Amino acid sequence: MKSPSDIVSVLERELGAQAIVGPGHERLDDYGRDESPLPEFYPPECAVLVESAAQACAVLRICLERKVPVTPRGAGSGMCGGALPVAGGVVLSTERMQRIKEIDPADLIAVVEPGVITGVLQTAVEDQGLFYPPDPASLEFCSIGGNAATNAGGPRAFKYGVTREYILGLEVCLMGGELLRCGRRTAKGVTGYDLVAGFVGTEGTFGVITELLVKLLPKPPAAATVLGVFADVPTAGTAINGLLRDGLRPRVLELADKASIDHIRAKSRYRFPANAGAIVLIEVDGEAESMQMMMEKVGMRCDELGALDVLAATEPAERRSVWEARRLISPSLKEAYRIKVNEDICVPRGRIVEMLARIDRISAETGIATAVFGHAGDGNLHCNLLSNDNPDDPDVRTRMWSAAEQVFRATVDLGGTLSGEHGVGLTKRDYIHLEQSEQVIEWQRRWKAMWDPSGLLNPGKRLPARRVCNE
Ligand code: MLT
Ligand code: ZN
Repeated sequence: MKSPSDIVSVLERELGAQAIVGPGHERLDDYGRDESPLPEFYPPECAVLVESAAQACAVLRICLERKVPVTPRGAGSGMCGGALPVAGGVVLSTERMQRIKEIDPADLIAVVEPGVITGVLQTAVEDQGLFYPPDPASLEFCSIGGNAATNAGGPRAFKYGVTREYILGLEVCLMGGELLRCGRRTAKGVTGYDLVAGFVGTEGTFGVITELLVKLLPKPPAAATVLGVFADVPTAGTAINGLLRDGLRPRVLELADKASIDHIRAKSRYRFPANAGAIVLIEVDGEAESMQMMMEKVGMRCDELGALDVLAATEPAERRSVWEARRLISPSLKEAYRIKVNEDICVPRGRIVEMLARIDRISAETGIATAVFGHAGDGNLHCNLLSNDNPDDPDVRTRMWSAAEQVFRATVDLGGTLSGEHGVGLTKRDYIHLEQSEQVIEWQRRWKAMWDPSGLLNPGKRLPARRVCNE
């Protein structure tokens, strides 16, 4: 066993041995990985599992004093390497901060610690007739702090919006140990600059979230799910465009192509029809009496828009099995392929059909298999590039990432953005210049430097390194 370095013993003295996952600990390696498609493993010197804001501040004070890099981490479910300690040093994990401190039905808010699992929060508020809409596919194991750090989305973002719209207030520990509380408990508020919105989505590069004040809604009394079965992706994409123009406002408008469906068939309790070349998943919510009428409208429109079949799932158990199946797509692809580069590009809604065609073309030209699914109603497509070649072979990796770059270029060409919900982290930072000007990138560097002049907080993420002048 390696002898613990200076920083490990200092942190151990300050926070107690029970807070430290140090050298030689069997779990230490877990903190060097996340759900990103990177074969590399980035071992930290230690992980500190904080239980309070005071402890998080202590870690950030000690790390600044000793000039040690520190990488914040939620549940480790991120897909872009945002929580990987690329510069070594310390991982600051909020996984033990799991208290739901308050649910207030009168103010329609909850106050929670960052390690609360998103699905746990949803169930807790639903038990009180309330609703927390953001529903990332990983909701059973991702945490609310990580969702805020990445501004996570999910299927219901189509009607209800993404995480940022539900974070009213934050407590954040800053590099050096200062504790900042910002935001408000009110439904509206425009006093001062919006620091809360500024922190959400910064992937732990500005500070470490230690408490969140979350907006809630009354729980919709009923919901129903409709599956439009289409012959192929182009027809399904065109149908999505038609549905978008209709003014029907479902809460979910999702697409899954044949490859995605075929990978979940064997595991899913829901039986997807054999003839499905693509599925459009639509969910409506509202008063129980209106469900039948809404489903009929959606079903009729799917028929008119070329569906081979329209299936309804109204019973809670059946709807649950549809959603379990939907959430299995990503893990099933990961199981089936040695390499799964999963992008989450987002294009303007009017360009969805064209983007689907471009992905098809890139797949045909590169010979790389794809599976496309996701939040098509938002233009947010999970384009998965798949291969069973050796992930450690540099040529294979170059081929995969150059296909990913082609997907990014096509996206930007259509007026879209590289990431609709997963974030930038490590995997997309070197592609940002495809979308944003050097000026825009430079202002972001200055913004980052204001919160973290040392550059030690989650280094190497979100922004590309500065170019040297003759590059
Ligand atoms: C999803 O919607 O399933 C996830 O955001 C996408 C993924 O896991 O690739
Ligand atoms: Zn998604």
